[in-house]
Amino acid sequence: MLCLQICYDGDIPDFKKLTKARQVCPCSLQKGVNDIDDKKLLKELNKILTLEHGHLGMYKNYQDYQDKEIRRAFRRFMEIEIEHINKIKNIFRNLGGIYSPLIESGDIIGNLLGITVNFINDQEVLKTYSFIENKAHEGYMNFVAKLEKDNEPRNNFIAEMVAANMFEAKLMHLWLEDKLRNG
Ligand SMILES: [Fe+2]
Repeated sequence: MLCLQICYDGDIPDFKKLTKARQVCPCSLQKGVNDIDDKKLLKELNKILTLEHGHLGMYKNYQDYQDKEIRRAFRRFMEIEIEHINKIKNIFRNLGGIYSPLIESGDIIGNLLGITVNFINDQEVLKTYSFIENKAHEGYMNFVAKLEKDNEPRNNFIAEMVAANMFEAKLMHLWLEDKLRNG
C-alpha cells in the first residue's frame, strides 16, 4: 500500500482506484516480477509509442507542401500525433513502466511496416499516409479488443484511453482518402 502511494501520488485518481482494486504493485512491474500479461501490455504499448513517433514524423514537415489544405490538415495531424504520444506516455507512467522507443531514429514507419514513402508527389504521400493511418486504426482496434476481452477494470480503463487514438487514426485516414478522391 505504501508503494502505491509513492508511485501514484498526484496521478489520475480513477486509475489509482482501479489498480488498487487489482492489487498490483507498480514497482513490481519495473522489477520485472509481475505476471506475463503486464509485460505483454508494456511491450505492446512500447510498440505503439514507437509507431506514434513515426506518425509524428509524417506530419511535422507540413510547411513543405504547396497545397494549403494539406498544410493545414498536416499541421493539425502533427498536433494530434503529439497528443497520441503523450497519452501513451501517460499510461506508461501510471503503470509504473519504463518506455524506450524500439527504433530510436531514422525511418520508423519504413522499418516497422516495410513501407517506402515516395515523396515525389502529393498523391503518393496521401496514398501512403492513408494506408498507414488505416493500419494504425486496425492495430488499435485489435489492441482495444484484447484489453476489453481481458475483463479487468484496469485494462478496460486503458482500452477507453487508447480508443481515442484509435478513433482519431480513423478520422485522419478518412480525411486522407477524401483528399485523394476529391483533391
Ligand atoms: Fe497516432
